[in-house]
Amino acid sequence: MTAASALHDLAVDIACEAGQLAHRRRTEGVRIAATKSALADIVTEADREVEDLIRARVAAERPDDGFLGEESDAAGGTSGITWVVDPIDGTVNYAYGIPSYAVSIAAVSGEPQTASWTALAAVVFNPASGELFHATKDAGAWLGGERLAVNSEPSPAGALLATGFGYDPATHAPALERLGRVMPLARDIRRIGAASLDLAFVAAGRLDGYFERGLNAWDHAAGALIVEEAGGRVGGSPGGRPGKRMTIAAGGALFDALVEHLGDDARD
Ligand code: IPD
Ligand code: CA
Repeated sequence: MTAASALHDLAVDIACEAGQLAHRRRTEGVRIAATKSALADIVTEADREVEDLIRARVAAERPDDGFLGEESDAAGGTSGITWVVDPIDGTVNYAYGIPSYAVSIAAVSGEPQTASWTALAAVVFNPASGELFHATKDAGAWLGGERLAVNSEPSPAGALLATGFGYDPATHAPALERLGRVMPLARDIRRIGAASLDLAFVAAGRLDGYFERGLNAWDHAAGALIVEEAGGRVGGSPGGRPGKRMTIAAGGALFDALVEHLGDDARD
């Protein structure tokens, strides 16, 4: 059984190298390689190159582990550990030159399904700001060397909430309707454009809460552990795990209020 701390240290090392590559490619100019699920859903050459780097490093250092990344085929392993990777989360920000994107890496144990895995180590690294959010199961969440804690006391002014919108235009009207339902809880709304950073910001107390429908496993795997290790709650359906149908993250009572206001969207 690998110690979670060893997975953490390797994840940090790989995320730093991968982030430096993404940042260097950004300064050289970004080329869109293809569109994916919708015209707005793009992949750049850098997304693929950065995922290749991460995959090669994992394969070299932990050849028995599985791999689940956004830009390449999933591969099972024999060790019981899977690396869940978004090489560039916030690709549209990246393409537009907005410095809010991140390399997101989690090492999880168990079946590589969000409903059942246990995240052991997580890193969300934004190379444009130099901020490295990281966590190890049962050992806390950190921004660099500073320990993170979610906001647990609601402000009388309401919660600073973040959300996101899917690439499929058909999802936009329901997403706006959902946003309308949570507005009574909010002092204001942010749309940062990278789910991993939304989650890391909840952990850091820069946001009070976050919710989004339609996320993939690599969007939330690392950020969810960082929130939980900062004392927050992450879920999907009431009592359930975060997933495609809904991901909600917040401290304490705000989490329950978001579940209640999201109603059927938070139910399986
Ligand atoms: C996207 C970002 C965005 C979220 C989308 C994700 P990508 O990931 O996290 O904030 O709203 O649902 O797909 O495509 O930039 O890796
Ligand atoms: Ca991505």
